[in-house]
Amino acid sequence: MREKFIIHGGRPLQGEVAVRGSKNAATKMMIASLLTEEPCFIQNMPLVSDVDITQELCERIGSVVLWENGNTLCIETREVKEARIPELSRRNRIPILALGPLLHRRGFAEVPVLGGCPIGHRPINFHVEALEKMGVRIERREHSYYAEADRICGASIELIFPSVGATENIILAAVLADGETNIFNSAVEPEILNLIEMLNAMGAKISCDSAKRHIKISGVSRLAGVKTAVMPDRNEIVSFAVAALATGGEVFMGNIRDDYLVSFLDKLKECGAQFNFERGGIKFWRGNDRFPVNIETLPHPGFMTDWQQPFSVLLTQAKGKSIIHETVYDDRFGYAMDLERMGASIKISDECWGGGRCRFYAKAFRHSASILGPTRLHGLEITMTDLRAGMAHIIAALSAEGESVISGVEHIDRGYERIDERLRALGADINRI
Ligand code: EPU
Repeated sequence: MREKFIIHGGRPLQGEVAVRGSKNAATKMMIASLLTEEPCFIQNMPLVSDVDITQELCERIGSVVLWENGNTLCIETREVKEARIPELSRRNRIPILALGPLLHRRGFAEVPVLGGCPIGHRPINFHVEALEKMGVRIERREHSYYAEADRICGASIELIFPSVGATENIILAAVLADGETNIFNSAVEPEILNLIEMLNAMGAKISCDSAKRHIKISGVSRLAGVKTAVMPDRNEIVSFAVAALATGGEVFMGNIRDDYLVSFLDKLKECGAQFNFERGGIKFWRGNDRFPVNIETLPHPGFMTDWQQPFSVLLTQAKGKSIIHETVYDDRFGYAMDLERMGASIKISDECWGGGRCRFYAKAFRHSASILGPTRLHGLEITMTDLRAGMAHIIAALSAEGESVISGVEHIDRGYERIDERLRALGADINRI
């Protein structure tokens, strides 16, 4: 039977919470381990189901995976036993990243077509075009991509849009390639820098000029094992911070830095929310003012697309009209309808609101939202359809009056470790049934 959360809202979240490792860094680091026969020790792994799915994928390929001390993963792939892994289809977006490592080790690979959250079209044309430029032959089959390459060659690649996945895919293919690869207009998310740090510690030669969005990779002949650690999950930080603010509480998170949160903290300041750097971390609480803000989601260092859903709940409580212009994904406001049913006043449009035109202009994608606050939210029966929208549902339910019953909990479990237990420890009335 599918699990549900029962939430009774209205309790301010109070206390301290330990932030887990980033799902979107951890899963890529597991794939990076496939580039060597030696063991890789990855500390601070989050215990989320996307990691389980990636572990299953690596084990199918031939990795031996052991967990130590709860959160350290030891992964060793002495031999790639299986380079064709099509049947693990559509469960997350990680398998396509295994192409480079599998091609280096076996010369051919077959990976499933991508799954992941339903938040827009999400093509992989940048991945395919870049790998083809590096000498890989790729064939789209009914449920998979089949690829072959005798050697992968360095290339000069300019991305039309700084795609996180395409940048990672090119890096993973380029580290053991012949010659030099340059990625222009690359994504420079901190999770990518975390991956680069791991690869360089394995013996790769990668440099990144974040300001210029330029990553240079000089191919090396082999990579060694490594001991490395996953960075804190920025989405968790934002989710707990916003949950504290939306419920009128106060939450401290240790071991986090502001340099990868700048655009979030700037918006909090504009909103009138309060935070303070202390004890090597950040404390968040709600101030007396609640101003509306305009947000445009952008690749890093801009305001991250994964933050807009939790943030929108905060904006239902601001005094006035806020705008969110989503410029990364073309269909990421599915959850707004549920917030409206809970009492929020939200309009969605296919126009570019609040700023300049984005690449979704005049394409009939509903990618702008206006939120008029303050509105009281009330509990409801809701079904989560994706991970970050699910977090918006949870935060809305925590700040609403009355009971909410939220199904689709498996979406949240993909990216947040035991979220119900950790929210309960902060005083939330949330139960899993
Ligand atoms: N895009 C293309 N063609 C491509 C690749 C991307 O048109 O070949 C477009 C996408 O359709 C999208 C935009 O470029 O409109 C950005 O996509 P990107 O490749 O940057 O995203 P991703 O690698 O698929 C990762 C995270 C997402 C996060 C985005 C943006 C993982 C597994 N996923 O996705 O995280 O929102 O980067 O930062 O790392 C989540 O964790 O809930 C999540 C969706």
